[in-house]
Amino acid sequence: MITLVFATNNPNKQQEVQAKVGAAFKVLSLADINCTHDIAETGLTLDENASIKSRYVFNNYQLNCFGDDTGLEIEALDNQPGVYSARYSGTRDSEKNIDLVLQKLTGITNRNARFRTVISLIINSKEYIFEGIVNGAIRHQRSGTGGFGYDAIFEPNGYDITFAEMVLKEKNKISHRGLAMQKLILFLQQL
Ligand code: IMP
Repeated sequence: MITLVFATNNPNKQQEVQAKVGAAFKVLSLADINCTHDIAETGLTLDENASIKSRYVFNNYQLNCFGDDTGLEIEALDNQPGVYSARYSGTRDSEKNIDLVLQKLTGITNRNARFRTVISLIINSKEYIFEGIVNGAIRHQRSGTGGFGYDAIFEPNGYDITFAEMVLKEKNKISHRGLAMQKLILFLQQL
């Protein structure tokens, strides 16, 4: 069995990823390796931030690992909040971040948006990059109580419910992180 450290302390992400990889891989969080450092996301792109996270773990612990970064890219807002999704409103408060998105889109009919996840995997000292994208639209108001972040206002294309109204398994099948993880899993299976 392959053990990988996921450079996150976000329990929602940890849960999604563990559900996706199933029993084939063991995924440890930063807490599991007693890493309490808050890895600063100082990159200007999702790729840079994903690499910052995986490289921090690899350089300090010499373990096989991966880091991810996700952005909500809204067409009418020039792909903002993008790499700034976590602190769009100046705080990490998801409700405030959602409020700001809804406010900026007031009166705008183009609601097209996508979630994009980049994963940086470091295995046997080499780095590999995987990307997952899900296209959808920003709702005019929140719907659903599941998930996290911007889930309550994101309706993936082909559905009439938001991510926050989906069960985890359903979200994982089509989501940005689920798709990027799927690529990572296929890659590991071919090693
Ligand atoms: P992170 O830096 O990869 O944690 O992602 C940045 C921000 O994007 C998070 O703080 C969330 O607000 C948002 N985000 C990431 N993944 C998701 C998701 O699956 N659903 C909704 N929002 C997400």
